[in-house]
Amino acid sequence: MDDIKNLVRKNISQFQPYLPGRPIEQVKKEKKLKKVFKLASNENSLGSSPRVIKAIEKALGNIHRYPDGGGFYLKEVLAKKLKLNVENIILGNGTDEIIEIIGKTFLNPGDEIVVSAHAFIRYYMAGKLMACKVKTIPMKNLTHDLVQMQKAINKRTKIVFIANPNNPTGTYVNKKEVINFMKSIPKRIIVVFDEAYYEYVTRKDFPDVLSYIKNKRRVIVLRTFSKIYGLAGLRIGYGMSIKEIIGYMERIRPPFNTNSLSQIAAKVSLSDKEQIKRSRKVVAEGKKYLEQALGKMGVEYVSSEANFILIKVGKGKDVFNRLLNKGIIARAMDEYELPEYIRITIGLPRENKLFIKKLKEVLNQCF
Ligand SMILES: Cc1ncc(COP(=O)(O)O)c(C=O)c1O
Repeated sequence: MDDIKNLVRKNISQFQPYLPGRPIEQVKKEKKLKKVFKLASNENSLGSSPRVIKAIEKALGNIHRYPDGGGFYLKEVLAKKLKLNVENIILGNGTDEIIEIIGKTFLNPGDEIVVSAHAFIRYYMAGKLMACKVKTIPMKNLTHDLVQMQKAINKRTKIVFIANPNNPTGTYVNKKEVINFMKSIPKRIIVVFDEAYYEYVTRKDFPDVLSYIKNKRRVIVLRTFSKIYGLAGLRIGYGMSIKEIIGYMERIRPPFNTNSLSQIAAKVSLSDKEQIKRSRKVVAEGKKYLEQALGKMGVEYVSSEANFILIKVGKGKDVFNRLLNKGIIARAMDEYELPEYIRITIGLPRENKLFIKKLKEVLNQCF
């Protein structure tokens, strides 16, 4: 009989499953550890809003019903907050799903997309899934190089993906760079700005890309409830664009892709301003502490606008494994072709302290 391998679509036969951060329970069992701290997936270390938990408990009695397929009430709240219309918004099972929907909606085999090296890996995967040519442009100072990305655009290019701030580097492209880029590219191109970490950004020169949608440019902006809103486990994110683009993406979106609890949780999480403020504070203070501690240790790191820090440790995989043995789940960066680095999510004060203590031990062991 024919090997299954021969039945698989050619362009995905080289795919590897996405590598998520290691789950706490698995590591506890494997390493026989009582306490394990996960600083691997850029979640909100404060947890989700208590108001969300209450709202979910209240909604549990209705889970035998299908959810509102289009998530109308959540989209209504988002539209009001963002000064858009409901028709400008699509919901996804995490922004991960929306990235895939974008690929499935617009890309034919042989089309091209432009992405940055060391950028969030799901754009590359969406392009490859659709049998496209993915042009990967080297970074400049570990930041998207928009000038070179623009130069990579040709007649076959349909989409450019820009993570801002980028995961895993934490770097951002500023207003001036984005304005110049948007001026210099053909108007037919779709530009995706992935702003999964938008709510953590503090820089004054961060671009307002929603204005492009209001001005009818072909821009898609992605944001998520997985990060500052603390709902990573419920899988919900959203995309915003001009009505026509959202309309075509809606044809591809699986029915009921966001569940009833996630829709309610997302809506309530938007209203808990105090929780958002607290979450920002934890990250700002944690970042300051980690940067100072790493500075004192003489360890290089990349200045971040998100809730994680990329740290240059030498042999990243080795340091990752040694930290794992000590109950800290960090993230090795081989898959992002940054083998000298690890990425660490900014945690609660005690988690950050423990991480620095364990990193010192590991680096002393290694070198
Ligand atoms: C830049 C970026 N975009 C999108 C995502 C996906 O987020 P989610 O699918 O949880 O909304 C992540 C997750 O880490 C990310 O870092």
